[in-house]
Amino acid sequence: MKNILVTGGAGFIGSAFVRHMVKKYPHYNIIVLDKLTYAGNLDNLLPVDDEPNYKFERGDIADRVSVQRVFEHQQIDTIVNFAAESHVDRSILDPDAFVHTDFVGIYILLDMARQLGINRLHHVSTDEVYGSIPEGFFKEGDPLEPNSPYSASKAGGELMVRAYHVTYGMHTTVTRGSNTYGPYQYPEKVAPFFITEAIDDKPLPVYGDGMQVRDWLYVEDHVTAIDLVLHEGKAGEVYNVGGENERHNIDVTKLMLKLLGKPESLIKFVKDRPGHDRRYALDCQKLKQMGWQQSGSFEELMAKTIDWYKGNEWWWRKIKTGEYLDFYKRQYADRLAEAK
Ligand code: NAD
Ligand code: DAU
Repeated sequence: MKNILVTGGAGFIGSAFVRHMVKKYPHYNIIVLDKLTYAGNLDNLLPVDDEPNYKFERGDIADRVSVQRVFEHQQIDTIVNFAAESHVDRSILDPDAFVHTDFVGIYILLDMARQLGINRLHHVSTDEVYGSIPEGFFKEGDPLEPNSPYSASKAGGELMVRAYHVTYGMHTTVTRGSNTYGPYQYPEKVAPFFITEAIDDKPLPVYGDGMQVRDWLYVEDHVTAIDLVLHEGKAGEVYNVGGENERHNIDVTKLMLKLLGKPESLIKFVKDRPGHDRRYALDCQKLKQMGWQQSGSFEELMAKTIDWYKGNEWWWRKIKTGEYLDFYKRQYADRLAEAK
């Protein structure tokens, strides 16, 4: 492993991975390939901009020409794929881009890798591929029953990764991460959305009854899990990465308000997300047996996250303009007008 291509490296988790890898492994060259969609942001990579072992190239993982160019010019030997459309609500409004990137994109990466003799690929997937679980915990061998256009596209992408391992002998690994939070997350996802809205005393639209359960994972812990699996994961294997912090959405919302010193009167219960998965929960024994540990409690890491958004308004205020406001209107205007 020498020249590692990180696709989607300008997004939330991808950029955290790049910042981690560039500093921890000065002998690796870290090359980012990113389309810079609405969610891609070069500000996320400013902390490594001057590092000699970091490079950025703009391109689409579903475009063979861009992929071939970066594979050849940068002599890539290893690929870590974060590139995706990642927001469930947007997948319900407009599924096209999800199929393009999350399914076709990973297929093109795999196929160009096969043609150019690149054998190592790690794919970043999600716990949403399993669907919803009323009780108990999903294990890696459980069936995939995705419920949104986002999770169905991710499941399709993962199955293509599996096929390239079984058919062509590619050394692939997959991680299925749970709900990730931390600095530099695009403020459409519930944590940064609610934190930044609450800072401005705006209403927080909680879907349905707010009793859905998500398993919260700090971004730097997600990154160390991917680093571990990249180095020690077995070919063809899948690894769950969960925070083991199951919380009801309403409780997470109240915790964020408490940490911000804002009133619960900002909470508005609005029309639910269609097909909304009720609960996600992962069994993470396989990863923990490899020595993975988390860095702190949910309460501490959420407080740290909130401090970051409070101290970095320069980062999120400019995002909450233009396209963001168009999406906000489509997603929330009617919901908030009808809110209880
Ligand atoms: P993000 O939306 O913040 O970033 C996605 C990045 O991919 C952006 O930089 C975007 O410009 C880039 N991109 C999109 N389409 C592309 C294309 N066709 N070609 C090249 N680049 C493209 O996403 P994130 O939250 O950082 O998620 C990263 C990965 O982790 C995704 O694969 C996602 O499915 C997975 N994941 C996310 C979470 C989470 O809670 N955020 C949890 C588990 C897994
Ligand atoms: O579980 C992993 C997944 O977590 C990742 O694969 C996705 O990329 C990531 O976006 C996330 O998906 P969710 O749909 O769980 O995340 P989101 O932040 O959109 O929503 C978290 C919960 O909060 C979910 O139950 C929906 C609810 N919610 C969300 C928003 C944006 C609200 O109640 N109101 C909101 O405005």
